[in-house]
Amino acid sequence: MGILEIRTFPDKVLKVRAEEVKDINGEIARLAEDMLETMYNAPGIGLAAPQVGKSLRVIVFDISHKEGEKRPYILINPVVTATEGSEVMEEGCLSVPGVYAHVKRAAKVEVKGYDLDGKEVTLQAEGLLARVIQHEVDHLDGILFIDRLSRIRREMIKKRLLREKG
Ligand code: NI
Repeated sequence: MGILEIRTFPDKVLKVRAEEVKDINGEIARLAEDMLETMYNAPGIGLAAPQVGKSLRVIVFDISHKEGEKRPYILINPVVTATEGSEVMEEGCLSVPGVYAHVKRAAKVEVKGYDLDGKEVTLQAEGLLARVIQHEVDHLDGILFIDRLSRIRREMIKKRLLREKG
């Protein structure tokens, strides 16, 4: 177990489509456990493998831990299979530190993926959970939440981030 370095904008690994996991083996299990530890340590409520420099389709999330009880999810090769409605909610991202913005996404989603035993998992989610799932699946496609804002807003934020990076 270990805490991994979180990659931040404009790291290129955040912009590429991550690869499917072909073999859910011990290495993937270790990666997922390290991602959870890294996420809790940050602290955050979701993390995708590209954020720790691994271009693989693995996401972890837990929206409950802030209330004291951990309820971690690990999804390998997640695919959003259905969406319903839309909702605007404020988001942030560990890879875009200090930036928060309102993003429009589906209000409800169904997502399918695999757990660490290679068993297919289907989740129906709404509210914050639906939001986190969509945000993390976006990471696997090289999309940051700021990419979902208007062009003007996005360019302003990117300029500011690049300036802060020096
Ligand atoms: Ni993020």
